[in-house]
Amino acid sequence: MSKQAPEKSYGFTAAQSGGTVPAPELSYRPRDPKNYRPNIGLIACGGITRTHLQAYQAAGYRVVALCDPTQGKAEERRKEFYPEAQIHTDYRELLARDDIEVVDIAAHPVEREEIIPAALRARKHVLSQKPFVIDLDLGLRFADLADEMGVRLAVNQNARWAPHFSYIRHAIEAGVIGEAGSASFEVHWDHNWTASTPFNDLHHLVLYDFAVHWFDLIQIFFAGRQARKVFASIGRSATQKAAPPLLAHVVVDFDDAQATIMLNGDTVFGQEDRTSVIGSKGTLRSIGPDLQNQTVTLHTAEGIASPNLQGKWVPDGMHGTMGELLCAIEENREPANSARNNLRSLEICFAAIASAESGMPEFSGRARRLPGSCITRSRPA
Ligand SMILES: NC(=O)c1ccc[n+]([C@@H]2O[C@H](COP(=O)([O-])OP(=O)(O)OC[C@H]3O[C@@H](n4cnc5c(N)ncnc54)[C@H](O)[C@@H]3O)[C@@H](O)[C@H]2O)c1
Repeated sequence: MSKQAPEKSYGFTAAQSGGTVPAPELSYRPRDPKNYRPNIGLIACGGITRTHLQAYQAAGYRVVALCDPTQGKAEERRKEFYPEAQIHTDYRELLARDDIEVVDIAAHPVEREEIIPAALRARKHVLSQKPFVIDLDLGLRFADLADEMGVRLAVNQNARWAPHFSYIRHAIEAGVIGEAGSASFEVHWDHNWTASTPFNDLHHLVLYDFAVHWFDLIQIFFAGRQARKVFASIGRSATQKAAPPLLAHVVVDFDDAQATIMLNGDTVFGQEDRTSVIGSKGTLRSIGPDLQNQTVTLHTAEGIASPNLQGKWVPDGMHGTMGELLCAIEENREPANSARNNLRSLEICFAAIASAESGMPEFSGRARRLPGSCITRSRPA
């Protein structure tokens, strides 16, 4: 009997999976500790902290102190979210308080360089905003100091708890798509609003301040696998209004997998955000017009599933990062978003920036410190 060769599709026709099937139930929502409700102090009350406090208020977390050198900023946050909170204009006063066990530090990376070690030495558990550090070795020293002081140091990589990314992350961890061979991200959004802000002076705005979330996702989607080589290229579009290059493409090579990020921050029409993770047993895909509105589909031999996801990146992301730190303290374990874990993501990010600067591929982990052009500071009051 002659064996018939499978018909060639030449890529014109897709392999069809079956019909619609139920999506796996996964615990992708932010977690809260069972009983632990410590007093929390927020150090720095800038633009992003509105979303922190929105999330903490909804989760019932106890924020008892707000600190900013510009008193009015702390007062504004107090009025809106925690009317009982005490205001401080010097973070050292806040750190001297015995009733505060956890601090959320949301100043810019170089401004945090003195606040983080001071908080750890005061034996406070710390949640640092991202990007955690601009120097990987300094970040390691902070992680060591946290261990020495017996406290936890975590990073606010909130994209991990955006519902679509969180569902994908949990599905990969559960083995739903088998061995992941590639992850690709296409982010087409409008970042021109930064033209009238201090971000306009940040040459690597896109790869550093923005894409750090995607470097972090690559690291956790391929958890336990070492990124080897990174190639990145950045450019300006003819029409963009912001000064920093808003176009970027990145390829990250693992031994047996590859990740790509395609960024166009000058997408004025037809904005879209798309993620695909392709594995040996299935594909996870998420598509939507922006980062708040996403639909995930899972394609396997059983069929196509689409979970009905609850929540949004903002504020779930902020709830997720603080919730994970609090759970880790209660359960006496390292947080999933620990500084040490996040430094692996920063290795990829720093390699991408080094590659974009040199025009050559860069080994992940070799670039230890970002160029001065990556330093951001607080907006003037
Ligand atoms: N999705 C996200 O997770 C996200 C989004 C935006 C910004 N961020 C990050 O958050 C950080 C802050 O960003 P932002 O947009 O809120 O900046 P911002 O400039 O609006 O605010 C920074 C605040 O830090 C305060 N500050 C500076 N030094 C301080 C000190 N010694 N003690 C106390 N407060 C001090 C300033 O007074 C200011 O209010 C940056 O690292 C940024 O990359 C994260």
